Amino acid sequence: LLNQDTYLVNGELKKWDGQTSAVFSTISSTEKYEPTILGSIPFMGEKEGLEAVHAADVAFNNGQGLWPTMKVADRIKCMTRFVNQMETTRDVVVKYLMWEIGKSLPDSQKEFDRTVEYIYDTIEDYKQLDRNSARFTKSQGVNAMVRRGPLGVVLCLGPYNYPLNETFSLLIPALIMGNTVVFKPAKNGVLLISPLLEAFKNSFPAGVINIVYGRGREVAAPIMKSGKVTVLALIGNSTSAIALQDQHPNKNRLRLILGLEAKNPAIVLADADLDLAIQECISGSLSFNGQRCTALKILYVHEDVVKEFNKRFAAKVDALVFGNPWDKAVSLTPLPEKEKPAYIQELIDDAIDKGAKVINEKGGEHSPNFIFPAVLYPINKEMRVYHEEQFGPVVPIISFKDIQEPLNDMAESNYGQQVSLFGKDIKTIAPLIDTLVNLVCRVNLNSSCQRGPDIYPFTGRKDSAVGTLSIHDALRSFSIRTFVASKDN
Ligand code: G3H
Repeated sequence: LLNQDTYLVNGELKKWDGQTSAVFSTISSTEKYEPTILGSIPFMGEKEGLEAVHAADVAFNNGQGLWPTMKVADRIKCMTRFVNQMETTRDVVVKYLMWEIGKSLPDSQKEFDRTVEYIYDTIEDYKQLDRNSARFTKSQGVNAMVRRGPLGVVLCLGPYNYPLNETFSLLIPALIMGNTVVFKPAKNGVLLISPLLEAFKNSFPAGVINIVYGRGREVAAPIMKSGKVTVLALIGNSTSAIALQDQHPNKNRLRLILGLEAKNPAIVLADADLDLAIQECISGSLSFNGQRCTALKILYVHEDVVKEFNKRFAAKVDALVFGNPWDKAVSLTPLPEKEKPAYIQELIDDAIDKGAKVINEKGGEHSPNFIFPAVLYPINKEMRVYHEEQFGPVVPIISFKDIQEPLNDMAESNYGQQVSLFGKDIKTIAPLIDTLVNLVCRVNLNSSCQRGPDIYPFTGRKDSAVGTLSIHDALRSFSIRTFVASKDN
């Protein structure tokens, strides 16, 4: 059993002896894949939350603390020390990723390596940013030396599906820009932080990074209520983001950096290369069992090709292999959220009640913590799966006659992260791109939606995001431009 009983506040690794919550492993040695207890995590509350935010606030000290005033080169030394130490934990963190969230071995390795690379690239970009911004400019007789400064205390909450990579895409830029942080990992994803606690402690001055665990409403709400948080940086759902925002006594002062829900569509035009479209739609909708905010969550297929598309797509889905994360050539793994299979089943039942069919043979097959992906057709707007972000293994398909149909749906949608467009004729595609970029923030041509490479901006319109992440943009999101001005005399 893995019992996470250590947290980090004010540079000290503290032992927790209060209430704990059981963590279920997503994987099991039994044939049935029944969840088994993996360990326990602390259930922290107001006391620990306030202790952590107080430490971060004191370390920031209204911008006068050691960290926000530290020379760029020294801050880089701390970050480099951290990433060097982190690299030594690869094997154990990869193992935790598999046990705790059910990510396959290659994807877990990729998540770790991508995170390390992200940190090194951020350090390089930060050097560049500092070189570029610390320059004199002159306008209308005023000389200015512009630079980027930190914002204050950041409360950082990461998601369970990328507990390392996506969480660190908030944490690392926040830290390197001179902010201080309180970090609360998602419930599935606490254990894998434990091998990194020493690295955090050894690399940053006391109070710069504080790590607590628990339920948002118990540990994060009091942190917000304290009024000491300047930036709420959260990747997750809008309900939690709004609930936390509402706790802040002075919302006007609060900055938000949020990665929220998405319902990314694929649009398959009549002249699309179907082999390519099917292959990309499979990985786009079902890699990591569809538990990605960038997953394709609804497929629009032109009526001329929908029959052929459905037949081949359904057969390919049925050929996907389910197993434990370390098994070779596995593409489907057990689901870490206990309630997920029942929720996916509800979506399937609702769609069937309203006229859809499960078009693949294995669709909906159950075990206690797994449900085989169901491909649903035809979908209409009455169905829950048309509106809800399923974040799991169910793929709804709609056919269309006129391209305006998916465009209208996208315009009406509450979300606006990305779209995938499959087609060959550039004369059709070019004007469509001009429309699509005004509906979402990234148009993927003949390829599935994704966040990376991490150098590109990652954001969304409407309810999908606030602020922009990426190696480059996040440094700007977590800082403010300031300048020193002097007049020509
Ligand atoms: O859950 C949302 C992630 O940002 C997805 O990232 O496209 O690299 O899998 P990814």
